[in-house]
Amino acid sequence: MAARIIDGKAIAEAVIAEVKEKAQQLLETRGVRPGLAVIMVGDNPASAVYVRNKAKKCEEMGFLSQVHRLDGSASQDEVAALIERLNRDAHLHGILLQMPVPKHLDGAALQEAILPAKDVDGFHPVNMGRLALGLSAFVPCTPLGVRELLIRSGVDPSGKITVIVGRSNIVGRPLALLLMRKERGGDATVCVCHSRTPNLGNLTRQADILVAAIGSPQFIKGGMIKPGAVVIDVGINRVEDSTKKSGYRLVGDVDYEAASEIAEAITPVPGGVGPMTIAMLMHNTVAAAWAQSS
Ligand SMILES: NC(=O)c1ccc[n+]([C@@H]2O[C@H](COP(=O)([O-])OP(=O)(O)OC[C@H]3O[C@@H](n4cnc5c(N)ncnc54)[C@H](OP(=O)(O)O)[C@@H]3O)[C@@H](O)[C@H]2O)c1
Repeated sequence: MAARIIDGKAIAEAVIAEVKEKAQQLLETRGVRPGLAVIMVGDNPASAVYVRNKAKKCEEMGFLSQVHRLDGSASQDEVAALIERLNRDAHLHGILLQMPVPKHLDGAALQEAILPAKDVDGFHPVNMGRLALGLSAFVPCTPLGVRELLIRSGVDPSGKITVIVGRSNIVGRPLALLLMRKERGGDATVCVCHSRTPNLGNLTRQADILVAAIGSPQFIKGGMIKPGAVVIDVGINRVEDSTKKSGYRLVGDVDYEAASEIAEAITPVPGGVGPMTIAMLMHNTVAAAWAQSS
């Protein structure tokens, strides 16, 4: 039987509707409108699309939205000065620096310059540290979206053998910390794999929940999946496709056709984790606005 499809688009819409309601309550009870500033340095075309989408979503939500586009030659001091100014602006509750930044900049230092209270991307060491300690924190949007997908599609990670392939600071690592937390949607038994993991298939085949965050098209084959597992595909990869007008199509890190014959449930690409990331950014921004206005 083909796997149940976890519909990220529909779940993201439900999250967005709830976030809108919380934003409305904030406006009605405290007269505060959430504000998000996005900083983009240089003209990376993929980043430009992400930044546009974030600003568009903010506007749809009725948030104050600012996009600060700096020239690719901007200095560390110039970007840091902008962050300082945004940190002090009481109308802005969230600030994010679109990564990657040009090579001459120290992106980690710039992320650290953002006030932890306004770090809606959850990349600041204070937030990452709080996440690791099980304290309240801004959690990076993609891992938060993965957990939300699990919860809302009726998958309780508690106790489950959860194998995450990928240990990046934006996906694999924070997701492992999140799913390990002693709370609803947590308590998973987590194993994190990466490029040095030997016999990867032996581990992935034990997973009740398998998360692929690798960045390699259709890397996870059907034979690497335990029958009945829940498969979450974080990967977004462009592969050439001459039948498409654009000349490419998007595929995940999982061989979807093969996996859907074996898994109990699976996220598609596109339409799985992708829409959740922006929904959770809106969630974090409203949470920041509530916290800063209390
Ligand atoms: N849906 C969304 O909104 C969203 C958000 C973010 C990212 N993504 C997508 O998710 C994917 C991962 O992104 P990322 O930023 O986490 O990528 P990344 O920083 O490149 O990290 C990739 C991870 O995969 C591991 N890996 C690479 N080759 C491997 C192999 N052969 N076997 C086992 N592990 C291997 C790497 O191991 P090492 O650490 O040993 O190098 C690394 O930990 C990409 O396709 C990206 O586009 C999607």
